[in-house]
Amino acid sequence: MGADTSSTVATPAGEPILEVDNLRMYFPIKSGGLIRRTVGHVQAVDGVSFQVPVGGALGLVGESGCGKSTTGRVITRLYKPTGGAIRFDGRDIGNLKPRALKPFRRDIQMIFQDPYTSLNPRHTVGSIIGAPLAIHNLVPKKQILSRVQELLEVVGLNPEHYNRYPHEFSGGQRQRIGIARALTLQPKLLVADEPVSALDVSIQAQVVNLLQDIQREFGVAFLFIAHDLAVVRHFCPEIAVMYLGKIVEIGERDRIYRHANHPYTQALLSAVPDVKQAAIGGRRERIRLEGDVPSPINPPSGCRFRTRCPLAQEICARQEPPLLQIGPRHKVACHFAGELGQHPFKPVTARLLGVDDQGNPDPGAGPPTELFTQPGFADTWFDIKGRSSVEP
Ligand SMILES: Nc1ncnc2c1ncn2[C@@H]1O[C@H](COP(=O)(O)OP(=O)(O)O)[C@@H](O)[C@H]1O
Ligand code: SF4
Ligand SMILES: [Mg+2]
Repeated sequence: MGADTSSTVATPAGEPILEVDNLRMYFPIKSGGLIRRTVGHVQAVDGVSFQVPVGGALGLVGESGCGKSTTGRVITRLYKPTGGAIRFDGRDIGNLKPRALKPFRRDIQMIFQDPYTSLNPRHTVGSIIGAPLAIHNLVPKKQILSRVQELLEVVGLNPEHYNRYPHEFSGGQRQRIGIARALTLQPKLLVADEPVSALDVSIQAQVVNLLQDIQREFGVAFLFIAHDLAVVRHFCPEIAVMYLGKIVEIGERDRIYRHANHPYTQALLSAVPDVKQAAIGGRRERIRLEGDVPSPINPPSGCRFRTRCPLAQEICARQEPPLLQIGPRHKVACHFAGELGQHPFKPVTARLLGVDDQGNPDPGAGPPTELFTQPGFADTWFDIKGRSSVEP
């Protein structure tokens, strides 16, 4: 199965298996009555860009309703994206028709959140895990059973239990069955959508460890979706934080845990017990999150986090903060990006956007620049303290 990779850490030169560029997924809202007109859109995913290296792992984190599952479903092409590009293994799969998609359906598999609803209760474990082999006609019928047993062993279940039904297994074991099913076709990328959220805390770590072993052994890449930063911490060398359809901060794990610059990331960090110390770093400040994520049907103007952000100022309602490159492999979308307790008093983005400090158009300001806001990871970045660009 798969190539052997000794390191799972993404290197800047690492070839991406998946490149997502300005991805958008809007769901139409229809009016009632006979003639159903589109009266609006749920902007579930709105301009998201990231990469997952071959055999690597990116964590996608955010509260419920931020658009994480939708992002995962678009990548697996359960939905056709409204806009943007999805390049998998060098090919744009965002616009492929169902027929042309078939080979990619093998290469990208999904692990679902709820092991109780994602397995058909009327089928034996053997037929659940073996079904993809039969559908894709990959191995002779006689060999399916031995392949199923092999997979059961890989995920730590008794290979002799292939004839049992899902209800005969515990939650953790069912999730292992879901993982075995996702591995059947030897995918290159696994989209794991909160794979341990529905499990007892006591078995969450076991399942995460299993996924990590699988990643190491088979060199399969992961997009690992979670609603808090604790779960992805030990798994993902890179982390993207999502809020209301957009990525607000993305970077290498250590940058995110030690030097988070976005108030939302800082709030998520301070809510997680085992990273709390790192988040507050001895300082007393702490950002609390109040209320829920607003509706993506009519998101707040400017910065979408402003209705819950303790630092929000005028410019935040007027201008959308660009995803600014603030360090090697670290980006943040905030006018007042800074480490906790060290946020600047004036917006760092005003000059780049050609506006004054309140966010009004300013003919005296420099021209808008895209230099620091391009998708992917640039070598040139913006030093927030020095307010100047840093060449590699
Ligand atoms: N099929 C759909 N039709 C309409 N709205 C949807 C659909 N799927 C998700 N949404 C909406 O998109 C937003 C993002 O949802 P989701 O991607 O499930 O977020 P998350 O996984 O981060 O909790 C939510 O407001 C949700 O109600
Ligand atoms: S841009 Fe403004 S509202 Fe948005 S996170 Fe930064 S300070 Fe808060
Ligand atoms: Mg979800």
